[in-house]
Amino acid sequence: MFLTRDEERILDGEAGPGVQLAMRILVKLGDVFGAEKLVPVASAHVSGISYKTAGDAAIEFLRELREMGARASVPATTNPCGFDERLKGLLQLPGELVRAQEELLSLYEAVGLRRTLTCVPYYELKPKSASHLAWAESSAVVYANSVIGAYTNREGAPSALAAAIIGKTPDYGLHRPENREPGLRIKADFEPKDELELWALGFLVGELSRGDIPLLEDLRTPSDWELKGLGAAMASGGMTAMFYISDARSAGKAEGLEGVEVGRADVEDVIERLSSSDEPDVVFVGCPHCSAEELGLLASLLRGREIRPDRSFLICTSRYLRDAHPSLISAIEASGALVVVDTCMVVSWVERLGADVVATNSPKAAYYLPGLSGVEVRLVNLKECVELVCSR
Ligand code: F3S
Repeated sequence: MFLTRDEERILDGEAGPGVQLAMRILVKLGDVFGAEKLVPVASAHVSGISYKTAGDAAIEFLRELREMGARASVPATTNPCGFDERLKGLLQLPGELVRAQEELLSLYEAVGLRRTLTCVPYYELKPKSASHLAWAESSAVVYANSVIGAYTNREGAPSALAAAIIGKTPDYGLHRPENREPGLRIKADFEPKDELELWALGFLVGELSRGDIPLLEDLRTPSDWELKGLGAAMASGGMTAMFYISDARSAGKAEGLEGVEVGRADVEDVIERLSSSDEPDVVFVGCPHCSAEELGLLASLLRGREIRPDRSFLICTSRYLRDAHPSLISAIEASGALVVVDTCMVVSWVERLGADVVATNSPKAAYYLPGLSGVEVRLVNLKECVELVCSR
């Protein structure tokens, strides 16, 4: 990979060992993927923030980075961690887990990352279309590429962190316009009746795409929160980092592409594969974190309703959106539902709530929760989530 004189100096250690290590990670990555150069990034988004998923290895790595004096040189946001203040109490976490999570957060801050603790950083710091980013968190990557029109690969936590420090990333994959063309047309021969069917379709599209960028044909234009969940589902069904739906941006791109048609039965099969029919103890929405639009929908669905005493309703969003919409939060919480920030049920210790079955409308959560927390998942749409948890 070609390096400028300044980049060579950093690689030789002239700017200190912290940035040297970050540059080594980027050069290695660039060499593996055949990048010709580094490209400046407008921001980085780093995953591996929850101690539950990152573990002691992350703490040790960050301690070293801090000792070596590394600091982010571009705006760098963080994914959800293991708990917020409220959930910490509910989960009754042992002191050592709390201390480990807090140390991990302090270390990330010490290397210059912001405590955004959300998988929807784009609602707070929206990247410009066509800007280059180095984002980890697959749901945010697919949203950035497909909805915002920014350019990012699906980074891992170390490469996103290295890019945050250097302010650059290797110029390969989705940073190159020639790699952003669709490779497969997918047509649903039915109209998804709710967000769950749309997102289950997304999961199936992820499975079918096998590394290609899919173009979804003849789909009604989903709203922003539906697009957010659609991309998240695709990115968990496969390695999808970008998609198109047939609109002005994708005009003419379908020509000559192989096409696949899927029906409602295929989507129902996805829901059945990911779902149990048991009664839930906990109902969780906000994977990815709820947008303002979803908080508004929930506030209206919960108006005049009351949460059953034997069930919990946890709604995950970002601290930024919670603070920006206090009246929506009060309207939601008047029902007894709990708005949780900084974390999500997938990267937290939901099993400590005594739950055997969790209901959610998110195929991504349904895919990861059984393996990470040993709970079963019941997939239902947002309205049914509310019905399952309300006594009146
Ligand atoms: Fe976000 Fe957690 Fe889902 S990080 S995308 S809410 S698994």
